[in-house]
Amino acid sequence: MSNKYQMIDVRVTAVEQVTPLIKRFTLCALDGSALPAFTGGSHIIVQMHDGDKLYSNAYSLMSSPRDTASYQIGVRREEQSKGGSAFMHDKVEVGSQLTIAAPNNLFAIDPAAGRHVLIAGGIGITPFLSQLYELQEQGAEYELHYAFRAPEHGAFADELRDGPHGERTRFYIDSLQQGLDLAALIAGLEADAHLYVCGPKPLIDAVINTAKAQGIADTRVHWEQFAVAPAEGAAFTLVLARSGTEIRVEEGVSILQAIEKSNAAEIECLCREGVCGTCETAILEGQVDHRDQYLSDDEKALQKTLMVCVSRARTPRLVLDL
Ligand code: FES
Repeated sequence: MSNKYQMIDVRVTAVEQVTPLIKRFTLCALDGSALPAFTGGSHIIVQMHDGDKLYSNAYSLMSSPRDTASYQIGVRREEQSKGGSAFMHDKVEVGSQLTIAAPNNLFAIDPAAGRHVLIAGGIGITPFLSQLYELQEQGAEYELHYAFRAPEHGAFADELRDGPHGERTRFYIDSLQQGLDLAALIAGLEADAHLYVCGPKPLIDAVINTAKAQGIADTRVHWEQFAVAPAEGAAFTLVLARSGTEIRVEEGVSILQAIEKSNAAEIECLCREGVCGTCETAILEGQVDHRDQYLSDDEKALQKTLMVCVSRARTPRLVLDL
C-alpha cells in the first residue's frame, strides 16, 4: 500500500466563528499556487501536528468548486473529540500551517437524478454548500432541507436564506418545533429524484430506513458521515497471516488500534475514519462488517478487502494479509 494522496502544505488565512460550536477556516497553499480542482461534495483530510501528536480528520469542502485559490471547511467542536476538532478550535488561527490531502469525493452529485433532494442536519450542511454551486451551474432541479436544533446553531443559514438558493431551501428548527416530516417528503418524490443526506447518524438512518420502507432503490439514496464508527461489537481473534501473529481484538478497540498496540505490523493510515482507503487490507479468511465509506456496496459484498481503521469481524476469527 502506498499513500496515493497528494499532500499539500497550507496556511490558514481566515477563521470565523459561525455558531457557538462551528468555525469556518479558509486555507491557501503555502507557496501561493492554485489548489487542486474538486467537485461538489468533496472532502479533504486535514493533518494537525500538536507536539508529538498527529490528528487527522476529514472535512467537506464548502467553497465553490470554481475557486481553487482557497478552500473553506467548517469544523464543529465535537464533545467526544479524538482531539482534532478541539485542536482546530483552540489552537489553529490565522497564519497557522496545516497539511491536507488533495480532495476526494465520496458524495458526488449523481448525474442520473432528475431532481436532487438534499437533507442536512447540523454540521452536515457543509458538503451541500459546494454541491449547491454545482447544481445551480448545471441548471439542475434541486431543493435543500436543512434541520438544526436552535436558531443560534444554524450554521450558514443566513447565507443560504439570502443567497441564490434561498427559494430552494427550507429550514427546520427543533427548538421552534419545526420538525422535518421525512415520510411525507419522501412519499412526494418524483420517480427520478435522488436523496442525499448528511448529518448525525440518527438522521441518516431515518432517511435510509424511510426510503427503504417506501420502496426507493438504494441507488437513489446517497449519504455521508465523517466520524469514527464506534468500535462496538463482539471481541474476535485476528490473525496476521505473514507472521502468524494472533491478536485478540476486544470490544471498544479497532483492528488498527489492536495491531498498533501489539506492534505486529506497520499499516499506513491517513484518516483513521474509513474514508481515505490507505489502510485497505486483503481478507484471507472470515467475514467483515464493513463500516467505512470508501468501498462501494458491491466491493463490500465481495469481502475481498477491508478498512482496518473502522471495520470489524463478523466471524470469531479473521485472517488478514498482513
Ligand atoms: S485510514 Fe483512511 S480508510 Fe482507514
